[in-house]
Amino acid sequence: MSSQIEPRVLFTRDEIAATVEQLAAEISNDYRGKNPLLVGILKGSFMFMADLIRLLDFLLEVEFVRLSSYGSGRETSGKVRVLQGLQSSINGRNVLVVEDIVDTGITVNFLLDYLRKGKPASLKLCALADKPSRRKVPVTIDYLGFTVPNKFIVGYGIDWDERFRNLPDICVLEEED
Ligand code: IMP
Ligand code: MG
Repeated sequence: MSSQIEPRVLFTRDEIAATVEQLAAEISNDYRGKNPLLVGILKGSFMFMADLIRLLDFLLEVEFVRLSSYGSGRETSGKVRVLQGLQSSINGRNVLVVEDIVDTGITVNFLLDYLRKGKPASLKLCALADKPSRRKVPVTIDYLGFTVPNKFIVGYGIDWDERFRNLPDICVLEEED
């Protein structure tokens, strides 16, 4: 029989909701009254961003940037480009980057360097998931949801080759017979 790739639940939708609530509480403490600009990295962060900001009951703004990504493979090429940048100036703003998962760190490191050139008042990173075992460049994650093992994860906005973003749970892709 040919093997099939099946998603196995790693974190349930309830665990995700509780974690996002926790992150929102921390972010509220730090950003209330500061009119932060939350910058999501497309496409993987869209679901996380949508849930997170609904729990932030103060003035804020949201933008998304699009970076060149993995393409159809599972490995980052190591070269990142901005496909769609910011629509407004971040000079003097309190900027919080919202990312789905930090793996080698190359993507987020590139974006933070790029944003720093815009002279924000502050620049921090919130990531739903971290895969520290694969890190190639050091990254400080200021607000972290889950630490994940060295497995390929999908669901809750995160894809494999554009598939599985719609899964409500965070899953691991495994080959099954
Ligand atoms: P990095 O540049 O290696 O840190 O890769 C970060 C990007 O790769 C993330 O924004 C994700 O889109 C993608 N990525 C990394 N690990 C996974 C994974 O396990 N599943 C799906 N996408 C991943
Ligand atoms: Mg991504």
